Amino acid sequence: MSNRTFTMIKPDAVRAGNIGNILQMINGAGFRIVAMKYLHISKQQAEKFYEVHAARPFYGELTEFMSSGPIVAAILEKDNAVADFRKLIGATNPAQAEEGTIRKKYAASIGENAVHGSDSDENAAIEGNFFFNGLERF
Ligand code: CMP
Repeated sequence: MSNRTFTMIKPDAVRAGNIGNILQMINGAGFRIVAMKYLHISKQQAEKFYEVHAARPFYGELTEFMSSGPIVAAILEKDNAVADFRKLIGATNPAQAEEGTIRKKYAASIGENAVHGSDSDENAAIEGNFFFNGLERF
């Protein structure tokens, strides 16, 4: 079990003005910010990041959306980070997300679901490395 996970505040939540609200929930749940960036990724960068989903029917829609505006990318630290963060964000489909979760509060649909959270320690490391080098982690 690792103590780090990776997140993105997605373009829908950024457009809706919810960066501050979401960061407050993340800090309030006990996560420490190890690294953070505000950036607008290209379609090609989104395709590379979501390569594991390349065969899925929603791949085009997903990568189009993720490159449609700026995002906040971050590495977060806490005991049991991957599982606890997935609990905090709620189900991928906000219609199934529990009360009090980030997606329940701020997500509109399964495609535009406000935040990303890594699904395993291995992917947390891969995803964090995609955005941050060693000098950008504190
Ligand atoms: P995320 O946790 O960022 O990882 C993969 C993303 O694919 C997921 O969040 C969803 O936003 C998106 N996704 C999953 N299923 C669908 C779907 N049926 N239609 C559109 N997007 C989807």
